[in-house]
Amino acid sequence: MKLSMPRFDQAPVLVVGDVMLDRYWHGGTSRISPEAPVPVVRVDQVEDRPGGAANVALNIAALGAPASLAGVTGEDEAAVSLADSLHAAGVAAHFQRIADQPTIVKLRVMSRHQQLLRMDFEEPFRTDADALAAQVDALLEGVKVLVLSDYGKGALKNHQALIAAARRRGIPVLADPKGKDFAIYRGATLITPNLAEFEAVVGACADESELVAKGLGLIGALELEALLVTRGEHGMTLLRPNLPELHLPARAREVFDVTGAGDTVISTLAAAIAAGEALPQAVALANLAAGIVVGKLGTACISAPELRRAVQREEGSERGVMALEQLQTAVEDARAHGERIVFTNGCFDILHAGHVTYLEQARALGDRLVVAVNDDASVSRLKGPGRPINAVERRMAVLAGLGAVDWVVSFSEDTPERLLAEVRPDILVKGGDYGVEQVVGAELVQAYGGEVKVLGLVENSSTTAIVEKIRSR
Ligand SMILES: Nc1ncnc2c1ncn2[C@@H]1O[C@H](COP(=O)(O)OP(=O)(O)OP(=O)(O)O)[C@@H](O)[C@H]1O
Ligand SMILES: [Mg+2]
Repeated sequence: MKLSMPRFDQAPVLVVGDVMLDRYWHGGTSRISPEAPVPVVRVDQVEDRPGGAANVALNIAALGAPASLAGVTGEDEAAVSLADSLHAAGVAAHFQRIADQPTIVKLRVMSRHQQLLRMDFEEPFRTDADALAAQVDALLEGVKVLVLSDYGKGALKNHQALIAAARRRGIPVLADPKGKDFAIYRGATLITPNLAEFEAVVGACADESELVAKGLGLIGALELEALLVTRGEHGMTLLRPNLPELHLPARAREVFDVTGAGDTVISTLAAAIAAGEALPQAVALANLAAGIVVGKLGTACISAPELRRAVQREEGSERGVMALEQLQTAVEDARAHGERIVFTNGCFDILHAGHVTYLEQARALGDRLVVAVNDDASVSRLKGPGRPINAVERRMAVLAGLGAVDWVVSFSEDTPERLLAEVRPDILVKGGDYGVEQVVGAELVQAYGGEVKVLGLVENSSTTAIVEKIRSR
């Protein structure tokens, strides 16, 4: 399956559901209380994060998609903290505020990255369901996907009315379900129960075929278009009528905290579908995103650059011939991982041993090597008519095949200065028998603190000599 990065900026999503505040009290523990056999935590940091449906909206905004959120809160400091964080993240939040009810707060006491205790402050919401339905109906204007993020806290009272309002406008509805009565999600486009939630409704599944059969049965019974069962470290399974099931193994490189993984799944899925991705691609992106988020502590989001890098890794397009935009992402990622970028440029018309040696030497100066190649018109201007022998695509393909070369990009000017200004390498290298000050772009690189190096030439190997040799024969 081919994956690419969707245009999330054109993918407005509305999330409706149980918003809550995830609050963390962080502090050191150095003694046991004299009052009882419990650790004493000296709290030195308080951290608030939007949780539940608000975390879903946050994930959508972090991907760069316009996110709006409707839900219910109290009229208290937690509601203010929630609204402030959402506003700061660019989420348009529309809360029904109930004066004498507390905003749901999940307070976790953390010490040395361990959760010592969680305290929940909540009461079932006395949501005005009609007011919420009317508000959602108005907020659906211009939205491409509706997400119901149901934690069973009472914000969602009349699921059917919300589903109908969206379907009337031809807007897909995705629901992260809760509880044992899935009939409330009838007519949704897709629901995303985890395996436990799924089996709680359809019964235990002894094997894959039973899971598929029961899933397709549920799709029929609830008039859904699809069902996505998330399966923790086993990844996820997409089911659709009259189509083979699509199972995707988990993609995590490291697992720190699975809290909120389900939120990341449904938010990435919603944003990808809103951006026009087909369902299998949207599910694959959601699985990639979940694989990244479980590698982070606490309820977290993933950003668009993080997802883009994962897509590039998935597509194996993290090395080789690149367009400038791809290269910039790859360089940014490498820098984010503390890698030093080496840059060199040339025509590389007929590759010879001299090239290979100096590229290996160049690569050894840092962690990643960018090779910028003059395009054909630029080579002709520099080397005269009849050059290049090999077209730029071929020259780049050969370079990309070298172990020393990470990224290859072409440029059309006579010099790589525009590219240098964009890429800002840590080290600019040229092979030749001239001084650093004669290296084109040296001034530019040194101006921002980069290094410029000239590597010695390997004797008796130059493209021009090879061409002459061929001509002379
Ligand atoms: N331990 C893990 N290792 C690798 N990937 C994981 C792990 N746990 C979760 N994931 C990823 O996250 C996705 C969703 O996880 P899960 O099935 O646990 O959802 P969930 O129970 O709804 O999560 P939540 O606790 O947020 O509600 C999985 O499909 C998988 O891609
Ligand atoms: Mg879940």
